[in-house]
Amino acid sequence: MMEYVNKLFLGDCLSVMDDFILNNVKVNYVFTSPPYNRKRNDKYANFEDVNLNYYDFLCNVVNRCLVLADYLFLNIQHNYYNKADVFKLIGKYNENIIDVVIWEKRNPMPASGCSLTNSYEYIIILSKIKKIIHTNTTYMKNHITTSVYSNNPYSKIHRAVMNPDVASWFINTFTKEGDIVLDCFMGLGTTALACMQANRKFIGIENCSEYFEIAQNRIKGV
Ligand SMILES: C[S@@+](CC[C@H](N)C(=O)[O-])C[C@H]1O[C@@H](n2cnc3c(N)ncnc32)[C@H](O)[C@@H]1O
Repeated sequence: MMEYVNKLFLGDCLSVMDDFILNNVKVNYVFTSPPYNRKRNDKYANFEDVNLNYYDFLCNVVNRCLVLADYLFLNIQHNYYNKADVFKLIGKYNENIIDVVIWEKRNPMPASGCSLTNSYEYIIILSKIKKIIHTNTTYMKNHITTSVYSNNPYSKIHRAVMNPDVASWFINTFTKEGDIVLDCFMGLGTTALACMQANRKFIGIENCSEYFEIAQNRIKGV
């Protein structure tokens, strides 16, 4: 087990997670943000955000995460292109959903014309074995507000990097020192960095070698 911990893995998360399952890897949490299938490349220089079978892809991800972890925190935003798949997913896993946190953006990109501006994302908390989730403090609302990550230093090549405040909020609210957190869509390493800062362990998976290299270097720099 220890050979998997505090490491990043380069590859498709479905096959890497299959390997983890075969090798009996267990983690306390998965905290992850999959690509949103925006069908246009306005976010990534090195990844094409087009998946013709997005619903099956998400189900394959969720199924594996629910085997590997006690809890899965799935950060996702519905948009014009993916909303049928996202809402179908919520229906399919309704019995595994413990709660939904709303992540509100203070300053989202305005929608064109008179359309509603998309100003929040979901963090869906799921489990196959647990019925409730505890927080580390009392009176923790299932709602957080941050700005969009406008000072992302990598915005020219990866505009979907998570605001580090959200990863830290998750770590501080739910996890304990020594817990292992898997992020199967690691991107530039935000979850791993938040884990390191708070003395938690991490495992990351990213399939794009350019992003993987950056994440490795960021982790080494801590
Ligand atoms: C929404 S971003 C995650 C960003 C990350 N939370 C961060 O803060 O940098 C999704 C990431 O998943 C990666 N990705 C897409 N398909 C993947 C797959 N099948 N396996 C592993 N990673 C994948 C993309 O390259 C992208 O970096």
